[in-house]
Amino acid sequence: MMILMGILVWSATLETCIARKGRHWRHHHSSSSSLSDSLSTKKPKSHENNSHSHKSKPKPKPKPKTPPPKSNESSPVVSHPPQVQPQPPPPLPLQPVQESQEFNVLDFGAKGDGMTDDTKAFEAAWASACKVEASTMIIPPEYIFLIGPISFSGPYCQANIVFQLDGMIVAPTDSETWGRGLMWWIEFTKLNGITIQGNGVIDGRGTVWWQQNYPFDYPIDDEFKLIVPLNNSVQEHPPMPIRSELGERMPSIKPTALRFYGSIDVTVTGITIQNSPQCHLKFDNCVQVLVHDVNVSSPGDSPNTDGIHLQNTKDVMIHTTTLACGDDCISIQTGCSNVYVHNVNCGPGHGISIGSLGKDSTKACVSNITVRDVVMHNTMTGVRIKTWQGGEGSVKGILFSNIQLTEVQLPIVIDQFYCDHSKCQNQTSAVSVEGVTYEKIRGTYTVKPVHFACSDNFPCIDVQLSGIELTPVQQQYHMYDPFCWKTFGEINSVTVPPIDCLQIGKPARNGVHTDHDICS
Ligand SMILES: *[C@@H]1O[C@H](CO)[C@@H](O)[C@H](O)[C@H]1NC(C)=O
Ligand SMILES: *[C@@H]1O[C@H](CO)[C@@H](O)[C@H](O)[C@H]1NC(C)=O
Ligand SMILES: *[C@@H]1O[C@H](CO)[C@@H](O)[C@H](O)[C@H]1NC(C)=O
Ligand SMILES: *[C@@H]1O[C@H](CO)[C@@H](O)[C@H](O)[C@H]1NC(C)=O
Ligand SMILES: *[C@@H]1O[C@H](CO)[C@@H](O)[C@H](O)[C@H]1NC(C)=O
Ligand SMILES: *[C@@H]1O[C@H](CO)[C@@H](O)[C@H](O)[C@H]1NC(C)=O
Repeated sequence: MMILMGILVWSATLETCIARKGRHWRHHHSSSSSLSDSLSTKKPKSHENNSHSHKSKPKPKPKPKTPPPKSNESSPVVSHPPQVQPQPPPPLPLQPVQESQEFNVLDFGAKGDGMTDDTKAFEAAWASACKVEASTMIIPPEYIFLIGPISFSGPYCQANIVFQLDGMIVAPTDSETWGRGLMWWIEFTKLNGITIQGNGVIDGRGTVWWQQNYPFDYPIDDEFKLIVPLNNSVQEHPPMPIRSELGERMPSIKPTALRFYGSIDVTVTGITIQNSPQCHLKFDNCVQVLVHDVNVSSPGDSPNTDGIHLQNTKDVMIHTTTLACGDDCISIQTGCSNVYVHNVNCGPGHGISIGSLGKDSTKACVSNITVRDVVMHNTMTGVRIKTWQGGEGSVKGILFSNIQLTEVQLPIVIDQFYCDHSKCQNQTSAVSVEGVTYEKIRGTYTVKPVHFACSDNFPCIDVQLSGIELTPVQQQYHMYDPFCWKTFGEINSVTVPPIDCLQIGKPARNGVHTDHDICS
């Protein structure tokens, strides 16, 4: 409990979010102030009937829960009535029963017809679930819930709440709901023990957002500069129409679909998150995060739609997850350490990236990251570390192991000259990169197998290569040989192609690089 309070105090001081794309975003204060009454110690009445676990306290109406008629348009949820299940026999009456308290959004007035705004019902169900330790908020299958921006927030909620998501949650596509722009759609903040599980879907319906091409809202990834078409047959995407379905413009600030902030012990499993306007799943200032058996899906050309974004988050495990999106499948930002990613499918997308770090001369610290047993298909980059000129801090203790690639443009990248506009000035300081191991990186590439561009004052050191087997597939692009600049380390087994540009050993001291580590 002391740790929890410490984290909450600490995270409250870090509320300002340094967004990866470096935009002037505002923090979204949700309207769910109704949750602040959750300190109330009033205990829900206990049910005498053990055979029935529905704890629907405020019961606006009786519930024969047959789904309402569905909107007949584009509903991916199969419509058939829920099965009537025989009641299980009641547990032995003398046994103390660990009651699990369930709060079904239907009991709080949610319609689930895909058209009625069910935000209030979700807020009410949460306000009740929040008061009960290890409660379950139920979003039942076969329904589609239209939910506006919403915050499921502590810090006064009980621990270990489960958000059982088996239905579908969809975002509003009208511009009024979003006002002048919000940074997230669904957020969970300041919770201790929160699980989202189930077979449900969170659909951001991002098409109306992606169609808009704000000139400075659409930073082109720096590495695109390396991807030069062989001839003019490869066209840029033609500009898309700039109108939402109702002919309105959406705000330029696009929301992340699902965001966790300042929470401890977070699990996300089973669900699909698709078509986010921007990033799909984000963790900020969290500790102990587990993501597995999750599916993220949006088109390869949807702008800035990262799969999973980690920032200031420690002790993270991501596994058995499929990520297809228009930006980084996984993006690991400053303040992350002890991150373990394995058995992940990535593509389309921009690969798995650490950074970009050190923008606007900021300090960035990332350490102890393992990414292994990953399959990537048709991604822009494979495994990448990107830092801006002028930052400080370090990236260290990174392992990329057993990465299988097919038709990846740039499989291995370290770029300490990251810049999302045309030219950035070189500076004397940099986020240093030290201790990066690549083992068993295999498959096919279409542009350049290896690109190590390290800074003059802070060369990359201790870069270890083994089991590199990358063969070219001729596509429409210029092909390049491996490139290294100021990159030092070791080659521990023969590489295909040969990476002769790596400088073996350590750089001579040049006085700038000190042993003082501002990250520890
Ligand atoms: C318990 O549930 C059964 C059937 O659902 C019902 O007949 C009975 O009245 C209930 N008892 C109480 C005390 O609620
Ligand atoms: C949807 O239902 C409305 C009436 O409820 C009907 O007019 C319309 O043709 C239907 N659309 C489709 C695609 O079935
Ligand atoms: C992920 O979700 C998308 C969209 O719902 C679906 O097309 C795809 O088959 C899913 N992939 C997996 C591995 O479940
Ligand atoms: C590095 O991270 C892993 C989890 O990925 C953790 O088990 C290990 O203890 C960490 N090592 C250090 C030195 O913190
Ligand atoms: C920055 O430094 C690199 C390496 O020395 C050099 O290749 C590049 O041209 C420089 N860029 C600018 C903008 O000066
Ligand atoms: C352009 O390149 C593609 C792929 O290499 C090739 O099929 C096509 O014929 C080329 N077009 C021209 C005009 O050279």
